[in-house]
Formats: sequence, C-alpha cells, structure tokens
Amino acid sequence: MAHAAITGWGKCLPPGILTNDDLATFIDTSDEWIESRTGMKERRISHVPVSDLAHVACARALACAGKTAADVDMIIFGSCSFDSQVPNTSSQIQLLLNASNAACMDLNTACTSGMYALSVANSMIRTGAINSALVIGAEVISQLMDWSDRDVAILFGDGAGAFYLEREEPDTGASVTENGLLAESLGCFGEARHILAVEGMGAKYANIGWPLGTTRWNFEGREIFKRAVTGMQSGCSQVIEKLGIEPADINIIVPHQANLRIIEALAHRLNLADAKLFINIKRYGNMSAATAPVALIEAVEENAIKSGDLILVPAFGAGLSWSAQLIRWGNRTTPINHSDIDLRPSSRSGLELVNEIAAQHKKNRPPEPL
Ligand code: UT7
Repeated sequence: MAHAAITGWGKCLPPGILTNDDLATFIDTSDEWIESRTGMKERRISHVPVSDLAHVACARALACAGKTAADVDMIIFGSCSFDSQVPNTSSQIQLLLNASNAACMDLNTACTSGMYALSVANSMIRTGAINSALVIGAEVISQLMDWSDRDVAILFGDGAGAFYLEREEPDTGASVTENGLLAESLGCFGEARHILAVEGMGAKYANIGWPLGTTRWNFEGREIFKRAVTGMQSGCSQVIEKLGIEPADINIIVPHQANLRIIEALAHRLNLADAKLFINIKRYGNMSAATAPVALIEAVEENAIKSGDLILVPAFGAGLSWSAQLIRWGNRTTPINHSDIDLRPSSRSGLELVNEIAAQHKKNRPPEPL
C-alpha cells in the first residue's frame, strides 16, 4: 500500500522570550514554583499573527523536502488560535506561500490539533485523495491568555511546526520501506470538556454580550493532569496493540509537553524502559498544537531520531482530546535545502509583548460570571 512519507519538516519560534522571572513581575508566582511544578523555564511570545509563524515553518518544511509551494495539494492547519474563523487561516497560509494548487482546511482539537492534522493528511494521501500535504501545528495562545490568571498564564507559549508529506509507493523501489504515520488511536473525553475551556471564543458569547477579544479560562489543572495521563496511556496501549508491535520495538517517545510531571507519570505507567524520551518543555512551555510537531522536529535536529526509528507520539488537549500515534521515520534525517525566509524582525522582549497584550485586553474588561 502507498504510504505518506514525511519528507520535510520546519519550525518557527518567535524571538520574544518570556522567562519565569518575567512572569513573577506581574503575577504572584516564582521561578522555583513554575520549574518544580511544570519543568518550564521560559516560553516564546509572538509579535506576528499565527499565519506568519505557520508560513515560515511551512517554507522551511518545503525547502527541507526539496519541494516548491506549487507541489502542495492540501494545507491542513491545526490550531485553536486562528487569525480568523472566516475565511479560514489555512487560506491565508496558502496566499503567503503562493501555494495556489492547495486545498485549505483548518482543524481544531486544541493541543492535539497538529497531530490530528497529521492523521487526516496521512489518511487522505494513503487513500489517493491527494498526493501531498503541508500539515501544521501552530499557536499564538498569548493573544487568548488571561494574563492575570496564574493558573494558566505560566503554562503556555507560542510557536509553529510543519511537516511536508508525500505519497510513496513501496512496491516501486526495494529501498523504500513503509514509513510515515503507521497507526493512530484518537479519542475525546467529551463529558469533561468544561474543565479546560476558553470562554469568550465563539458565536454563543456574542449573544450574551461578551466583548470581542475577551477571554477567561476555566482550567481545573489537577483534573486535567489526571485525564492527560490516563488518556495518553490508554491511547498508547491501543496504538501499540493496533500495529501489532511489542513495546520494546519503540525507539523513542516524543510526547506532548504540557507538564514534565505528566510526561514522567506517563512514562512510568507505560513502562517503556528502553525507549528514549524527548523533552523540550524547559525552553517553550506548552505551545498547544505546535508542541508535539516542534518536539518531533527538534528530536530529528538533535539526532535523537535516526532513520527507521519507531516513534510514539502521545498528545492531549482541550475537548478533552487525546491521541497516540506511531511514526516510522524515513531514510532522511537532514534537510535537502534550507529556506532563508524569516519572520519580520522585532526588538521587543517577551515581557514587553505580554504587557502590550494585557493592556489591550484591559480595555475590554471581561464580564462578571453568569
Ligand atoms: O495541554 C493540556 C493542557 N494543560 C495541562 O495538561 C495542565 C495540567 N495540569 C497541570 O499541569 C498542573 O495541575 C498545574 C501545573 C496547572 C498546577 O500544578 P499542581 O501541582 O496541580 O498545583 P495546584 O493547582 O494543586 O496548586 C498547588 C498550590 C496552590 O496553593 P495552596 O492551595 O496549596 O496554598 C495554588 O494556589 O500552588 C498554588 N499555585 C501557584 N503558586 C505559584 C497555583 N498556581 C500557581 C502559580 N504560582 N502559578
């Protein structure tokens, strides 16, 4: 059967850095508390819209694959911080790339969006609906954040990761073994959807008088923590069984990075003693949909992933959505080309950017709870 090889990868992290100490200048928290409870030291804050981050990540992924924008059949943009709902953000990415042959689709399963997007593109390529796709996980959560709420403000950051997928026929060349996304397990704890909710985004809020752009988070951290571990654990067990492999066949786990303690609890329960664990939470915090894609890309860049490796990628997010995917990395672990594209420069620090966003939000004070 044809498979969807991942032949290009690219990331884009905005330059503005927000440290734990920066956070402690405007909310009641400390570097010690944040690091010991989450494993995070700093995160990035974007000075550009999410479509710009995605555009740069995609251009880098295309160069890595040795392709041009004209080669792309489909753009699937996984996110929950769209530039706009109508028109969708993937069409803006198409425009920026000049990928005029591509169909464009936005997909929102919150933190798992980038990985769900990978599943959708993979299936469409395998069935022959399309031959190639750009799959993106990108967020500017900083714009949706309630910067006065220490329960959530410390956890999130901005960024983008993109993959180029193309159809390969294993029958046509003996050297091509089946690679790309081999199997997934996807699910959702809909009955607990209220425990991770960003109130204010969506048409229902317009009817009850919420000012546009106002958000307030409902975030039950401890309960989310438990669900994250159980959701990802059951997803991992299911996908291992589905592919008919032994846990020992897995070379590396590249998990969604929401909290180091969640990752450690998951690794402990999975008991995959011989598999490596890739962690980059210290540098970026939780970038929601961008997290797992960027972690996968950095694992390749840092030579933690080798050609032919079997990679387990568990993820978790609002919904409460969960996913577990098994990916076989292909032959190539280095880019064919590099793109010289970059974001427009910014001299503002992460703290300056956050102060600007928070001041803007204050103008639209959130309503009292209903
Ligand atoms: O991608 C999916 C989305 N997110 C997640 O998966 C996150 C899941 N949850 C978590 O990661 C953790 O629950 C948190 C990091 C959010 C919180 O850690 P925790 O160990 O569950 O802390 P807690 O909420 O039980 O709070 C412990 C204490 C409380 O004080 P008292 O009641 O013990 O006096 C909190 O008020 O820490 C206090 N606290 C803080 N202190 C300093 C809560 N947030 C902060 C803070 N800085 N930012």
